[in-house]
Amino acid sequence: MADPNVHVYDSLEALSEAAAQDTVARFAATPTDQPFALVLSGGSTPKTYHRLLATTYRDALAWDRIHLFWGDERYVPHDDAASNYRMARETLIDHVPIPEANIHPIPTHFADPQDAADDYANTLRNFFGSRTPALDLVLLGLGDDGHTASLFPGTPVLTETTAWVAPLEAPPYAQPRTRITLTYPLLNQSQATFFLAAGAKKQSVLADILTNPDCPYPAAAITSSSLHWYVDVAAFSQEG
Ligand code: 6PG
Repeated sequence: MADPNVHVYDSLEALSEAAAQDTVARFAATPTDQPFALVLSGGSTPKTYHRLLATTYRDALAWDRIHLFWGDERYVPHDDAASNYRMARETLIDHVPIPEANIHPIPTHFADPQDAADDYANTLRNFFGSRTPALDLVLLGLGDDGHTASLFPGTPVLTETTAWVAPLEAPPYAQPRTRITLTYPLLNQSQATFFLAAGAKKQSVLADILTNPDCPYPAAAITSSSLHWYVDVAAFSQEG
């Protein structure tokens, strides 16, 4: 039986359109007197989704109520080509009327990445204030190794049970290796989480995640009050 939270589309454009539409729907369902925490993902998959939020769906969102956070960041300057912040600024932020005060990049200027993680955790705590610390919508991608955000297989950050943000050294194949990532304690109490995954390289990992409850991949341990997968036919295996 098909999983009702797995949405399969013919293309990256179509899955991104669906995720953008559902983003607007979730935003519209939140009280107008509350900020909306939208957590962006890195990588290349979200670029289409960003473009749609900045064009087709730009005026469907009250950008003064939206606060942007990041699920992870490479520990490089924000103008570095590898920066997730730079990618979001180029594909989304520079094209929407969001106040600068609502943009919360993960800092990468501290000498010690642990200080950056602690600083970002403080930013999140200040944002939530006395409200329940539940991110409204978290966008996540899926790596070919089953990582998501910068929760990479075999890294100590997978066993973090209290800190919301942590530094880590990613495996050698994931450059740049020094990363900052949100952790399961914060990610797994989100109101909603949308995974976007496209392409045949994701098929094997995605099939395992969707069919094998004992799957070892970090992305499989993500939970949420409302967890949805937006995938294309190339990434979605008919097996299982
Ligand atoms: C990052 C991302 C990472 C990404 C996956 C998928 O910083 O690289 O947060 O988790 O979502 O690696 O990347 P693609 O979308 O490029 O396949």
